[in-house]
Order: sequence, then structure tokens, then C-alpha cells
Amino acid sequence: METLLLPFSPRYIVLTICSVVTLLLLGIGLFDPKVINLVVIPILVFGGLTILGIHDLLQKDHAILRSYPIAAHMRFLLEEIRPEMRQYFFESEKDGMPFSRDTRAVVYQRAKMVLDKRPFGTQRDVYEEGYEWMHHSMAPKPHATEPFRITIGGPDCTQPYSASVFNISAMSFGALSPNAVRALNAGAKKGGFAHDTGEGGISPYHQEMGGDLIWEIGSGYFGCRNRDGSFNAPDFARLSSNDQVKMVELKVSQGAKPGHGGVLPAAKVSEEISRIRGVAMGEDCISPAYHKAFSTPLQMMEFIGEMRRLSGGKPAGFKLCIGHPWEFLAICKAMLQTGIYPDFIVVDGKEGGTGAAPLEFMDHLGMPMREGVNFVHNALVGIGARDRIKIGAAGKIATAFDIARAMALGADWCNSARGFMFSLGCIQSLSCHTDRCPTGVTTQDPLRSRALVVPLKAERVYNYHRATLHALAELIAAAGLEHPQQIRPIHFSHRASGTDVLSFTRLYPPLRPGELLNGTGDARFREAWDMARADSFAPAG
Ligand SMILES: Cc1cc2nc3c(=O)[nH]c(=O)nc-3n(C[C@H](O)[C@H](O)[C@H](O)COP(=O)(O)O)c2cc1C
Repeated sequence: METLLLPFSPRYIVLTICSVVTLLLLGIGLFDPKVINLVVIPILVFGGLTILGIHDLLQKDHAILRSYPIAAHMRFLLEEIRPEMRQYFFESEKDGMPFSRDTRAVVYQRAKMVLDKRPFGTQRDVYEEGYEWMHHSMAPKPHATEPFRITIGGPDCTQPYSASVFNISAMSFGALSPNAVRALNAGAKKGGFAHDTGEGGISPYHQEMGGDLIWEIGSGYFGCRNRDGSFNAPDFARLSSNDQVKMVELKVSQGAKPGHGGVLPAAKVSEEISRIRGVAMGEDCISPAYHKAFSTPLQMMEFIGEMRRLSGGKPAGFKLCIGHPWEFLAICKAMLQTGIYPDFIVVDGKEGGTGAAPLEFMDHLGMPMREGVNFVHNALVGIGARDRIKIGAAGKIATAFDIARAMALGADWCNSARGFMFSLGCIQSLSCHTDRCPTGVTTQDPLRSRALVVPLKAERVYNYHRATLHALAELIAAAGLEHPQQIRPIHFSHRASGTDVLSFTRLYPPLRPGELLNGTGDARFREAWDMARADSFAPAG
């Protein structure tokens, strides 16, 4: 029945009307040739629009035209005449969109490999409070040729992974359409970078393309779950030993909804997803806000050790958004006490994205990426474990400057979710939670996900990654450095006011190696360290 009504769905109504009117007019013209002069122009107009609409449905370049044949040309027209007008018709930028038009434009251009240079000089107000810049050198280095990589895996890891410094952040199949997962993974395969599965399990679309995977398990344990929702070790061992899985990641929290667990709205729980995740169809698919597999920092470290053992010694780590500082320091104390250390920690910023979350959580809970990354970096330095644990950063990192800045604050590599969504053609319509994504990125409706043409978008994912690393290599060379891991806070400045400029070293003072073990005077850490306990996430005293 639904398919029968499709021509009347808002997306196709314009094309349906044009083709019906054309047929009607043709009928009238054929039935009564005397009126042919009257109908010939309308036949040409509506006929022409019908042909355009059919072309839109079949062309591959523009996902939005495949979703909204004929109608979506309005969007391009508005973009052409007055970019600002677009926001009134299609996007309300009045109240601030997660990503600025400028950043999206750079990503689109890099994905399409069109000129991403700018004429005439910066459009930023460099005297505005908060403006930040990186220092160049009078002795720039030659441009690095090899894409930048790092090795992830500490002393207990027997299968370390050579990772790109820029990878696809966790987004589950379910939040994303099958075609989006395919295109991301195919792009990662071609570019030699990693694709984090998100908490929705490893889907056939991840496996189809063969790109490197970081398998993330959240509190729903999708893919390695018993009927009661608890963790299933044999299933985990079987799936994590798959060659395509390069690292295993425990999701503790996500910046956009820390302490809230995951929600896949019922509208998006298809038969396929219910099978892959082992959950009921037609109901909200909830990942609880807490884990069943552990409830203390000590147990969490043992679980990380267990994940590494079950995966055959692959790098094992966890992802979180920093909440109460003493809780992360409690994990540090548990590392010291158990001697079990993760191989990596991914820090997600409060400004991170999600498929769906309550406003209060999205706007007011969790530490922003910069403070979170720097806090984790300093805490690991403070317990003398920084060398054995790599830090990944996520949270509005879409350009080379964002990557360089996160690395100055302590990150070893960066992940992007929405940056890669833009490379897939996302137009930030903010309808991820409705299953009505206009570009086929975040929908389980096959008629909408057909808008996303996999081979073309896979190329754009690959291009975006390559062009962003190219821009990073240019930045690094201009600063007189050879590898992003050489970036330090001293290389960045921040405008605190019209006349006050601070170096990042002042804004983010470093802890000395082992300082937390010997009792620190640093107010950012002293109190929280004293409150932290390895045997509980609750504060001491
Ligand atoms: C559609 C969508 C789905 C996401 N799903 C997950 C998930 O399953 N697990 C997770 O740890 N983070 C998830 N995230 C968070 C991202 O991985 C990332 O940490 C966050 O969005 C910050 O990166 P960004 O600013 O580049 O988007 C999701 C984000 C988006 C936009």
C-alpha cells in the first residue's frame, strides 16, 4: 500500500503532478486536435519538468535531487542567488547550527576535490575575543609526503595497529543508513584509515567493504549480548578475532548525551537492525546509561584487560566524555592498582554529535573536547602512563586546523563523525532522529537511502580524508615541524581580549611526569585526586 502511495508522498508530489498534467494535456490534445495550440506550451512545460524529474531520480551526483526530484532545484537556485536566503527556506541558521557554513563548505569542496582555496584574505575578525592561531616558522620544513600515522598498542598488546591520525568516529548502523555505512567503509578502505562501528554492532555493510574497523561495544553489548542484555564473551571473542577488526573500544559515554546511554528511535528499528542487535522490533532500542559488565573502576580495568585477551591481543580502550573529574582519576588509580592499562582512550567533547538526545544533555552535560583531552593527557602524564596509552579526540574536528589544535592539547589522533557525514552529502537538516533524512545518510527507509550512491560517496569520503591530511601536512611544514605529534601548546595562541593574547601553555599548563603520584599542587587535580577511589566511582569522604 505504502509503495502505491509513494508518488503522492511530499517528496515526489511535484513530479507526480507534472507527469499527470502532461499525460492529461496529451490526452486532451490527442482527443481534440482543435485545442492543440492551447495545450502545446503547457505540455512542453510540464513535459519538460517531468523529464527533469525523472533525470533527478536517476542521476547520481546530488542525493537531495534523488530524494526530492524537481523540488530540490529550488535549493540550488536559492544557494546561487543569495546564500543567506537558503537559511530562511531550508535551514534556520538564525539560532546557530552545529557546524558553520564555512566549515561545511570546506568539507564539501574537499570531498568533491574542487578548489578549496579562498581569495582576498581571511573573513575572520582576528581581533575578536577567542580568536586562535597557530605560529608559522621562518624556517618551514619540506612538505611531508607520507600520510601521517601512529602506532596504537601498549606493552600488553600483541597486535598493535598502525592508524591514520584522522579516522571516522563512531556512528552506529541504525543511526546511519546501510548505504552510508558502505560508503564510509569503502572510503576508509581506499584511504587506509579506520572506521569506528559505533555501538550498534558490526553490520554486513561494514564487512562488505573490508575497511579497517574499530569495534565499539556500548552498554547494549550489540553483537555480543545474552538474551538478558548482558555481555557474551564467546560472541565477543568470535567477532573481535575477525581480521577486519583492528581495535576494540568500550563506550563509556558520548559527549552529546553523557550518562544517558543510547537510543535508537522505534521508527528506525527495522527487522534487520533488530536481528543484528538482538533486540525487539518497533520499540525504542535502548542502551542503558550504565554497564552491566562492571560497576567500579577496578572492574572496568579488568573488563578492558578481558576485551584485549578475548580479541587475541588487539588494542583495547575506551571512549568517554569527561564528567566528574574524580571519576576519571579513579580509573587512573585503578590502572595503577591492577597494572591493567588501556592501549587508548578516546575523549569525546560535549560539543559532539548524536542521532538523537534530550536537549538538556546536548547543551549542558559533559566537558568540552579541549578541556577533556587536556585533562586526560595531563592525568596520564601525572601517573606516569602517558607513553603507553594513546589519546584520540572527537568533537567538532573537521579541518586540519581543528586536528592540529587538538593535538597541541594532547591528542595523538582525531576522529570526526559529522565531518565525514558532510562528505557523504549531509546538509545538516537536523532530521537524523525522524528517519526522514533528505540525503539518505541517517535513515532506514530504503527509498530515502537510495539517494546516497555508494561508489560516488565512497570516493568523496576518501577525498575528504586525503585533502584534510594534505592541508595538515601543509600546516605542519609551515610551522617548521615534521609530524603532527611534534605539535605542542607553545605553537598556539589565543586572544583573551582586544589587547590580551595568551599562549596555550598559559591556558593549558602541563603536569610534570608522575606529579600525581608524588602529590600535586595543581588545583585542577589536587582535590579531585584526593576524592578518587579505585574501588568506586563515588567520591571518597
Ligand atoms: C549520527 C551519529 C551517531 C553517533 N553514534 C555514536 C555511537 O554509536 N557511539 C559513540 O561512541 N559515539 C557516537 N556518536 C558520536 C561521534 O562518534 C562523535 O564522538 C561526536 O559526534 C563528535 O564528533 P563530531 O563533532 O565530528 O561529530 C555519534 C554521532 C553522530 C552524529
